[in-house]
Amino acid sequence: MEEKIAIVFGTRPEIIKLTPVIKHCRNEGIPFFTVHSGQHYSYEMDRIFFEQLGLKRPDYQLSVKSKAPYMQGQHTGKMMEAIEKILLKEKPTNVLAEGDTNTVLATALVTAKIATVKQLVDFSTKFGHVEACLRSYDKTMPEEMNRIIADHISDYLFAPTKDAKQNALKEGLSEEKIFVTGNTIVDALKMVEGKIEDVNSLKKMELEEKNYALLTLHRQENVDVKEKLQSIIKGVSGFCKKAGIEAIWPMHPRAKKMLEQYNITVPEKIRVVKPLGFFEFLSLEKNAAIALTDSGGVQEESCIFGTKCVTLRENTERPETVAIGANVVAGWQENGIVEKATEMLEGKTEWKQPFGDGKAGEKIVKILIKGK
Ligand code: UD1
Ligand code: UDP
Repeated sequence: MEEKIAIVFGTRPEIIKLTPVIKHCRNEGIPFFTVHSGQHYSYEMDRIFFEQLGLKRPDYQLSVKSKAPYMQGQHTGKMMEAIEKILLKEKPTNVLAEGDTNTVLATALVTAKIATVKQLVDFSTKFGHVEACLRSYDKTMPEEMNRIIADHISDYLFAPTKDAKQNALKEGLSEEKIFVTGNTIVDALKMVEGKIEDVNSLKKMELEEKNYALLTLHRQENVDVKEKLQSIIKGVSGFCKKAGIEAIWPMHPRAKKMLEQYNITVPEKIRVVKPLGFFEFLSLEKNAAIALTDSGGVQEESCIFGTKCVTLRENTERPETVAIGANVVAGWQENGIVEKATEMLEGKTEWKQPFGDGKAGEKIVKILIKGK
């Protein structure tokens, strides 16, 4: 059967991190098609990335919006139903999804189910998980559940680091399925290198290099819980006052919704802006004195750029960044955030990023094609 890869995504980070895979397939003439679940849909969470990264609109555009945090079963189920129909029609030899979202869970489950009835559907297909084997060891996170299930039903586990591979081995996953490729975010950053300076974000926002903090928040366990959301933003504000800097907060729509619902006022020293395009965001991230975040991608990117990072969570599935001193896990309590961020700001900025050589996209596609 001729190779054909289905590339499925639905959220901002998945679009960004699958771009190197899509571009490699495109450049090498490898047959593929793309499916967008519709999990993210606002212009600044979705379409802007297609425009900036030079991607074609998806071949299949679904519209399965979430009602987060409730009805995640329905969200996942609706995506499964729609994705299954596409896969049965297209008969791809391989299906790829990236990360730990509900879109990934739906795609992995559907592919694994189809693989059990290959005689009936007249094709066989395999699932490859990009950015596999990460673990926060916190099962209260929807993302941790998604990662574990996706990894355990994957045929190919594309782990970004050796440490991630160890997580999977400890769970008894077969070593033959695991490939340490690096993280495709390194490839994506290389691709857009020249564009970052062009956008002139600092000048436009009247900021000075290394004289502001960059804040992002969107995790369910943080923004949906009033006490935590309040405590985190007080901690960020307290740190900024102490350090004499301002924090720029490109606000994720989920955080915006919850701030409004809880009637929380953003404290002083925090400047809220809309979610930014990739180039504009990277420009702020590269030049910030420090990043304060609960995002997975921001922990990685700040580490790659040499920007210090404070993780506003109780744990991280990117412990490599902590081990080399690029990141500290500060939790959600106000005082802890002020203390850890202050310590971090005074610390070193020299480390070697652990996420690979920027050829992860190419490696993943080569393994898929050869592994058939
Ligand atoms: C999702 C992923 C998370 C990932 C994040 C990337 C799950 C469980 N969560 O979280 O792992 O880190 O994407 O950003 O899959 N909304 C909009 N416009 C959009 C998207 C969302 O307004 O384009 C609002 C809606 O009110 C929606 C809420 O944000 O209900 C949450 O969206 P959802 O995709 O469920 O979760 P994220 O927090 O974005
Ligand atoms: N990002 C962006 N604009 C923003 C905030 C983030 O382009 O205003 C990019 C960021 O560079 C990173 C990705 O979005 O590549 C991170 O996505 P997010 O934090 O939503 O999800 P996570 O990485 O936690 O899954």
